[in-house]
Amino acid sequence: MIKSAVHPLLASLPPTYYSIPLKNPPSRSFNRFFCHSSSSSSSSSSSKNNNVKKSVQDPYFPPRFSVAPMMDWTDNHYRTLARLISKHAWLYTEMVVAETIVHKQDNLDRFLSFPREQHPIALQIGGSNLNNLSKAAALANSYNYDAINLNCGCPSGKVAGHGCFGARLMLNPKFVAEAMSAIAENCDAPVSVKCRIGVDDHDSYSELCDFVYKVASGSPTRHFIVHARKALLNGISPAANRKIPPLKYEYFFGLLRDFPSLQFTMNGGVTCINEVDAAIQCGAHGVMVGRAAYNK
Ligand SMILES: Cc1cc2nc3c(=O)[nH]c(=O)nc-3n(C[C@H](O)[C@H](O)[C@H](O)COP(=O)(O)O)c2cc1C
Repeated sequence: MIKSAVHPLLASLPPTYYSIPLKNPPSRSFNRFFCHSSSSSSSSSSSKNNNVKKSVQDPYFPPRFSVAPMMDWTDNHYRTLARLISKHAWLYTEMVVAETIVHKQDNLDRFLSFPREQHPIALQIGGSNLNNLSKAAALANSYNYDAINLNCGCPSGKVAGHGCFGARLMLNPKFVAEAMSAIAENCDAPVSVKCRIGVDDHDSYSELCDFVYKVASGSPTRHFIVHARKALLNGISPAANRKIPPLKYEYFFGLLRDFPSLQFTMNGGVTCINEVDAAIQCGAHGVMVGRAAYNK
């Protein structure tokens, strides 16, 4: 999986997950569980299995190169421009809050419609209410997005202040698993999670693994987009939250190693195509670029 043991990106990989004592260790080894995920989950419904197939087998998913969801930036106009620049990059919408979709049903086109040329395109939704996330996924389904993504990385006061929402969801992986199951059951597209590597003091590699393990084992999620810095929920601005916490790519590459049958997209601090190539060569299934796709 990780092709070059000497690449600088791999210089300081965290220890393997097995070597880190967990508060509540899973009853079986991660590798064994994920290498046999479709047969080992006796409670999997057929719809969940369908989603596993969709997300793993679709040749376009996970995307090798994608443009990040960015509020007020990746709107319809920007995406049309981006599509003129690149035929194949996956484009992510700005985050649309589940409640907006549910409560604006008379005017859904305003929030969800896009010209067909924008395919492949993923809708990012945000929320913390299972019922509304389910309804939002069902309502969005008719717009034929190529994937639905749940925001578990936004530290913004506007969002994070509304209870357990955005990056705060990382503190409740059981809820995220339920939310992802609810979303997957209500849409035909593959589902994914976009998260940070941690939140506040919950920033150890083992806690990140715990999050990924619980979400993947409790839902059809097989694709994680990982912004390789933690979120600080102490009131610093969203912009500062994209600069101050240091990037720790070694956590990302640790996930690649420790969850071999999941798919991981690297995000954060990638500024040029050489860095995209380097990450792919080191085993990343995909790379997501945010600010550089807009500013450069
Ligand atoms: C203006 C702006 C708005 C953003 N809005 C979102 C958002 O709606 N949802 C989300 O998951 N991340 C959002 N992000 C974070 C980006 O998706 C990305 O994770 C972050 O910018 C790090 O990637 P980069 O270093 O390539 O920019 C936003 C970033 C910026 C700059």
